[in-house]
Amino acid sequence: MSRSLVSPEVASLRPYEPGKPIDEVRRELGVEDPVKLASNENAWGPSPAAVKAIAEAAAEVHLYPDGAAFHLRQELAAHLDVEPGRIVFGNGSNELIELVVRAFALEGDNVVTSAVSFVAYKIATLAAGREFREAPVDDGLGIDLDAVLGRCDERTRVVFLANPNNPTGTHLEAAAVDAFVAALDERFGEDPPIVVLDEAYLEYVDSPAHPDALALVRRRPRTVALRTFSKAYGLAGARCGYGVTSPELADYLNRIREPFNLSNLAQAGARAALADQAHMEEAVAATLKERARVTGALKELGFRVTPSQANFVLADFQCDAAELHQELMKRGVITRPMKPYGLDRHLRVTIGRPEENDRFLDALTASFRRDAAE
Ligand SMILES: Cc1ncc(COP(=O)(O)O)c(C=O)c1O
Repeated sequence: MSRSLVSPEVASLRPYEPGKPIDEVRRELGVEDPVKLASNENAWGPSPAAVKAIAEAAAEVHLYPDGAAFHLRQELAAHLDVEPGRIVFGNGSNELIELVVRAFALEGDNVVTSAVSFVAYKIATLAAGREFREAPVDDGLGIDLDAVLGRCDERTRVVFLANPNNPTGTHLEAAAVDAFVAALDERFGEDPPIVVLDEAYLEYVDSPAHPDALALVRRRPRTVALRTFSKAYGLAGARCGYGVTSPELADYLNRIREPFNLSNLAQAGARAALADQAHMEEAVAATLKERARVTGALKELGFRVTPSQANFVLADFQCDAAELHQELMKRGVITRPMKPYGLDRHLRVTIGRPEENDRFLDALTASFRRDAAE
């Protein structure tokens, strides 16, 4: 008998399903100007200075980029007030998720996270042929740290905590994270798992109780804080994320990454975006205002909304959400069904510009009106 081409873990995977592209909806449904609220992108876009820097960097695209990302590293280190050697860059923070699993979860080890969380943790773990464990969420769809702790054993090498979490928008407060880490370290002594605090949506957090992940990194070397230029900085297409961790872990991650994983376009865009904090802050402020408005409108319509600290909201529409997703799409609004997370009545909706959110709320009202008329 011939050997299987891939591991059982890879065979069990399904390709990642991204939000439906605008062009596809235009083509398939004949909708002229669809609005995409499906992938948690930043509707306000990047700083114009970043767009200009990327265009200028294109003139040097025949050259390999700086594999060490020297200038971006120096500038980011100064911005974060961390030593440059603590930073590892990735082709999006998604690449760092993969690198952490590949570097630290060895044969027979497992990786733990919460259910109803970012699917890349599962893909990275199974792709590496490692055991993937999920802990059930609490009643409010929040990450249950006691349950996460309960899934850990002496073979757990990495714990992923998305904070705020995608797709729920919930976040873990500093006291809860501190207690979790203390319990983990007490239980596993000298050899505790690496805790990854994935803060892709950090800039959208307005809760003062959010933990200081960089302080935890300093205090506890087996900690990685993941951040990205994809969301608040509006550079999802440029692919630039980073991890901040101990110099030791950063060194290992740098050994296994592709030498040129950050293009010169990504580096130029990220540097200019970082230098234009005002643009990012304006986009975030506008998003938070709209987040409150959309949340209020959904509640007024009678739907249950999970309180969000990110640039999207998750709502329970108390109906077959797959059908509602189709109805909204016919009206030109692309949202994200949550069936893959076992939430059949929920949709996740990215917070867009006011006019885009109005399109969503109007389409929603029209969909339910049609339902009532039938
Ligand atoms: C929680 C979380 N982490 C990481 C990422 C990856 O982002 P990127 O690879 O664009 O940095 C995402 C993207 O949606 C996310 O939701």
